[in-house]
Amino acid sequence: MENKHETKVVFLGDSGVGKSSILLRFHRNEFSESFEVTIGGAFLQTKVELEKGFTVTLDVWDTAGQERFRSLMPLYYRQASAAVIVYDVGDMKSFQRCDYWVKTLKEQEPKCVLFLVGNKADKENREVTQEYSAEFAKIHNMITFETSAKTSKNVQTLFYQIAEITMKS
Ligand code: GTP
Ligand code: MG
Repeated sequence: MENKHETKVVFLGDSGVGKSSILLRFHRNEFSESFEVTIGGAFLQTKVELEKGFTVTLDVWDTAGQERFRSLMPLYYRQASAAVIVYDVGDMKSFQRCDYWVKTLKEQEPKCVLFLVGNKADKENREVTQEYSAEFAKIHNMITFETSAKTSKNVQTLFYQIAEITMKS
């Protein structure tokens, strides 16, 4: 078996849920309280070292959550091996949006592995419980996590899972 693997991953979800922040935390171990909206899509290449010397290169597209960029999204999710659909645990509306992305991906990219990520798990005021999202993830056969780009919770785990799963598929 090859010890290198390259795979395309796309991050989707409403504006402000923390897609760029999760990537910044994983790639540079940084976090910023200020909000700089992503315009269109941003590309980032990052590596995940798995055991036994396997390295997975993730070609990640961080997309813009703002509605005005919606028509560009097919460019970013086309032929992705994995899609990370992100919501904010403190914002029910952002969770409801996930349904749209799940349907779209299942229709357009049926082989794509779907992750459901509830970010901002550090927040005290939450609108989406873990039980509620777990139910949705189960129905749609998604791998689910709660993360915090702020505290780093589960951020590494998320990327390891993406690397491992896409290597097998
Ligand atoms: P778009 O690019 O517009 O789609 O937004 P985005 O999903 O990339 O959101 P971004 O990562 O820019 O984060 C938006 C805001 O949420 C910023 O002010 C971040 O500091 C904040 N934020 C991101 N992740 C977390 C988190 O885990 N916890 C908390 N408390 N705030 C976070
Ligand atoms: Mg962004």
